Amino acid sequence: MKQVGFVGWRGMVGSVLMQRMREENDFSLIDPVFFSTSQVGQAGPDIGKEMVPLKDAFDIVALKKMDVIISCQGGDYTNQVFGKLRESGWQGYWIDAASALRMHDDAVIILDPVNRSVIEQALHKGVKSYIGGNCTVSLMLMAVGGLFEREMVEWASVMTYQAASGAGAQNMRELLLQMGETHHVAEDLLNDPASNILEIDRRVAQKLRDKTFPAENFGVPLAGSLIPWIDREVAPGQSREEWKGQAETNKILGHTDQPVPVDGICVRIGAMRCHSQALTIKLRQDIPLDEIEAVVAGANDWVRVIPNDKEATTKELTPVAVTGKLDVHVGRMRKLAMGGEYLSVFTVGDQLLWGAAEPLRRMLRILIE
Ligand code: HSE
Repeated sequence: MKQVGFVGWRGMVGSVLMQRMREENDFSLIDPVFFSTSQVGQAGPDIGKEMVPLKDAFDIVALKKMDVIISCQGGDYTNQVFGKLRESGWQGYWIDAASALRMHDDAVIILDPVNRSVIEQALHKGVKSYIGGNCTVSLMLMAVGGLFEREMVEWASVMTYQAASGAGAQNMRELLLQMGETHHVAEDLLNDPASNILEIDRRVAQKLRDKTFPAENFGVPLAGSLIPWIDREVAPGQSREEWKGQAETNKILGHTDQPVPVDGICVRIGAMRCHSQALTIKLRQDIPLDEIEAVVAGANDWVRVIPNDKEATTKELTPVAVTGKLDVHVGRMRKLAMGGEYLSVFTVGDQLLWGAAEPLRRMLRILIE
């Protein structure tokens, strides 16, 4: 059995990975070793079999014994350890959720339902670094990858509605705290059916603008508002999250020589863990809508096409409907007024599953198959 080291398994993405690996019985196929940056010697997670105590995640000698290492520890850890480990002569497979190595020439972005052939080719060539993609990009490709695969897309404009989880566990907590504070300030008026809605609104706005409003993590209120900027600026007026749309999409598809333009505005909204995206796709040809739907629906086992009507959309095409599920919902598909080559699509996916943990455990499966 392959020795597989896990780093960062206690964090939010790592915990989802552990849960999925237990559900799929992955641990029975490997010899797992758990590492820690802070709790060396303590007990590891309960995975239903006897485990050695936690090893030091900075111990290159211990890491070197692994055939595969899966890290959900974050980019700082990758930057600190990966180079040293390779310099020490380690030839194992490195699977990582962080973006640190994502755009390196000798790394592949993993999303096997979309780019299994790119992964297979890389394995054949001896590539050893397999990195999970940006959640927004991965979820977009799980949703409409079929159209890209058949080269039906001339360009795509992607407007995102990204959940708090993408910013981290503390941000999810902060969103709820903000919601609570917002409710609390108007609670007495809400309980009185005769109260004035504009007075409620005034109190809420005042609370949201109050310097004491809890916003250490987001920097500004998200509850009752939104934040149309995610991550740092990489080009004048463009955020890194927006830049990743084109860069990672084309790398995942193995198209970097002839990139399909993908761009838009990335926005944080007050959802918990599902990212939503509104796409305008310029098709290369005016293809009938039923053919487009068939291509989208047939692309993988998790895409679920939601009929473009009010009832189905409001019930099924929402973060509430999708949260905690591997299914990626795709709907609002119709031709836009600009012409038969302009397609609208709305999609929702769980940011912690296909957007983070799932591609990692599936890559491990590919390695041990
Ligand atoms: N960068 C993403 C976000 C999450 O902030 O929502 C991880 O890919």
